[in-house]
Amino acid sequence: MTLVLRELHPGFAHAVLDLDLSAPLPDGTVAALREAMDAYGVLVFRDQHLDDEGQIAFAQHFGPPERYVLSYRPGIKLRLGRAEMVDVSNLDATTGQPQDRGARHRMVNLGNRLWHTDSSFKQVRGALSMLYAHAVPPSGGETEFGDGRAGYDRLPEAVKQQIAGLKAQHSLMHSRAILGFTDFTPEEHAALPPAVHPLVSVNPRTGRKSVYVASHASHVLDMPVAEGRLLIGELIEAATHPDLVYWHAWRVGDLVVWDNRCTLHRGMPFDESYPRDLRRVTTSDVGGLALVE
Ligand SMILES: [Fe+2]
Repeated sequence: MTLVLRELHPGFAHAVLDLDLSAPLPDGTVAALREAMDAYGVLVFRDQHLDDEGQIAFAQHFGPPERYVLSYRPGIKLRLGRAEMVDVSNLDATTGQPQDRGARHRMVNLGNRLWHTDSSFKQVRGALSMLYAHAVPPSGGETEFGDGRAGYDRLPEAVKQQIAGLKAQHSLMHSRAILGFTDFTPEEHAALPPAVHPLVSVNPRTGRKSVYVASHASHVLDMPVAEGRLLIGELIEAATHPDLVYWHAWRVGDLVVWDNRCTLHRGMPFDESYPRDLRRVTTSDVGGLALVE
């Protein structure tokens, strides 16, 4: 199976044309999509028609869907109802209308404006994320993607040597605390303890290395906290240099798939009186990319 691809950003994001993801996918197509993910890190599929079941079914071709972090809060009402469906919308779970400015769900999602990779704070980290647009505002609300592989390639040799073997600790609570948000229950803290991952990932199929950092990273092990945070900031900056960023302006029916192990992303602001209904499924990194220890 040969995919019809169009380059959106040199060496990075590509659009996949002429593919209907609501239809059953032959094995050859799945294999070709895996290859394209390895090559480009971000794939864009326009004009799709997916319900939640179809989006989950598509994700399952690539790995087991992980559990939405907000589902760990006792008694929480999830708008999308299923623990695999991550609600990236600005909509209230009860009314379906744009939520109040101080809504907890909004506070948690504001953390998505910081450069991050999905679920780096889990012991089994996030692998591929698949974000599908049901409703978009008339302007704003784009998603930016940075290329961690090209960012790694550009690092000075001394920095590459410095970070080989280093690990960082990641926590959802850390990235939210950056914005002053700390409303998590003991149950959420227990379900989402910090996770430690090396600062460098390598794709065993391509041999390409990538920086692996995110706003969730609180410190580098065996290094003073301040020094580690400066290093984390330096690596995020390298991977999100304007030359390396693909900027996705959403249309209804877009499905964007990215590899969290070699990319960073962040959401952009928009007029929140308009609905923005984006729904995400993320696969767990089970038997996925190797890490440089
Ligand atoms: Fe995200």
